[in-house]
Amino acid sequence: MKKFAVIGYPIAHSLSPAMHNDLFAYYNIDAYYKAILVHPDKLGEEFLKMKNDQFNGFNITVPHKTAIIPFLDELDPLAEAIGAVNTVVNQNGKFIGYNTDGNGYMQGLLDEKLDLFAKSVLLVGAGGAARAIYYTMAQAGVKRLDICNRTVSRAKKLIEDCPYQTESKAISFSEAEQKLADYQIIVQTTTIGMLPDVDASPFSLAQLPAASVVSDIIYNPFETRFLREAREQGAFIQNGVSMFAYQGALAFEKWLGFFPDVARMKHNIEKQLGGLSC
Ligand code: ATR
Repeated sequence: MKKFAVIGYPIAHSLSPAMHNDLFAYYNIDAYYKAILVHPDKLGEEFLKMKNDQFNGFNITVPHKTAIIPFLDELDPLAEAIGAVNTVVNQNGKFIGYNTDGNGYMQGLLDEKLDLFAKSVLLVGAGGAARAIYYTMAQAGVKRLDICNRTVSRAKKLIEDCPYQTESKAISFSEAEQKLADYQIIVQTTTIGMLPDVDASPFSLAQLPAASVVSDIIYNPFETRFLREAREQGAFIQNGVSMFAYQGALAFEKWLGFFPDVARMKHNIEKQLGGLSC
């Protein structure tokens, strides 16, 4: 039987076990996927135990995405540039780290038939999630990719650190608010607006053109205030369910060699979240 797990702290509310176990049942794969709570002080020794137990793969979540790196045998170049790993593959006893968060996000946008490469994209935020998305888009060849952040110097540093070529500038939230018409796609990567702070929003979207696409990595609530304002302006909106499903689908593909039914995964996530909020 194949063995998979997600490692985090906390981990009880992870949506990954039910999502992957549903796929194993659906495809008749003899495997299980469980959530493992690992305290940050115990990451090295616990991970060594799991390697010895011959797990086939892992997802790594908060707060271990960077701390796991020294315990891996190899690192994919994109994960190395991002400095964070969310997926580990056991390849004949070698544990290799990848980052599927950024590609998961991009796939979610491409799914909507968006030509990212011909557009100007604005990322909101400069934390770990923004870093994964920015570096992945830059590596893929998205040319116009600006970042706005509360702390502008952090956005500047993210751009400077990126090894892939793009045309980018770091701007403030108030500048972004005035210049929304310069962008066709706006990607919200901060935790602003996540439950329980559902009334919070990075900045006003009053100047947003109706033809914009606005995407938010948050999926709890399904529609953040940022997304609601975008929808009210006539924009096309997308919440974080797509990114979550695709990052999981890309991990599944690395472990098992085929790309799973992502619509089924999205449905599973929505069902779990619906169940949670009842
Ligand atoms: P993650 O790894 O989830 O992206 P993070 O690295 O802590 O988390 O980054 C959080 C992001 O949300 C940052 O862009 C942060 O802005 P700063 O760099 O200025 O700290 C942003 N953020 C979080 N709470 C915020 C708030 N209340 N107002 C403005 N920005 C906020």
